[in-house]
Amino acid sequence: MFSLADVRFLPEQPHHAAAIEAIADEAFGPGRFSRAAERVREMAPHDPSLSFVAELEGVVIGSVRLTPIRIGTTPALMLGPLAVRPAYKNKGAGKALMRLAADAARDTGERLIVLVGDPPYYAPLGYRSLPPGSVIMPGPVDPRRLLGLELQEGALEGIGGAVKARRRGLP
Ligand SMILES: CC(C)(COP(=O)(O)OP(=O)(O)OC[C@H]1O[C@@H](n2cnc3c(N)ncnc32)[C@H](O)[C@@H]1OP(=O)(O)O)[C@@H](O)C(=O)NCCC(=O)NCCS
Repeated sequence: MFSLADVRFLPEQPHHAAAIEAIADEAFGPGRFSRAAERVREMAPHDPSLSFVAELEGVVIGSVRLTPIRIGTTPALMLGPLAVRPAYKNKGAGKALMRLAADAARDTGERLIVLVGDPPYYAPLGYRSLPPGSVIMPGPVDPRRLLGLELQEGALEGIGGAVKARRRGLP
């Protein structure tokens, strides 16, 4: 058994990449590359400074990534994948990773995060459904699973358009 207090949360480093891929493969299976969220991540690299791993005794047990995107003309971040290895679930690591990523993004002036996921998991973290049809992903998505989080008040109001790649720090 382990406790969340034993877990170290760290910004993603290049040497974490293989473990992160393995965890995502385990969580989502071989079909994951056909998912719309994965297509967004193929268009644009994630930002390692806004991506985190959970480590237990030096082993990566979970991770979360944020990818800079644009929704229409609005700068945003796409969250995912979020995954925790099965043996380490239900101890709070997933939510801790989510909070860490959102706090880091807010601290750098980012305004909003979107993701595709299960509303019951993300609602307690402040995510809410986006108006159907407002955010156009590069592939089919169940509109009930398209969720957004305001990092700054009002940031989700009126957003809409196609999701495109963005490089942070560029106009
Ligand atoms: C989703 C996931 C990241 C959660 O990680 P975790 O470390 O177990 O999460 P936490 O410990 O912070 O939270 C666990 C709680 O969330 C609940 N939960 C987990 N997955 C859920 C889901 N899909 N829908 C609703 N609730 C969920 C658990 O039942 C648990 O509830 P409790 O606190 O009332 O017991 C992990 O289960 C996972 O990797 N799943 C496979 C990949 C995945 O689905 N990723 C999310 C993409 S949508």
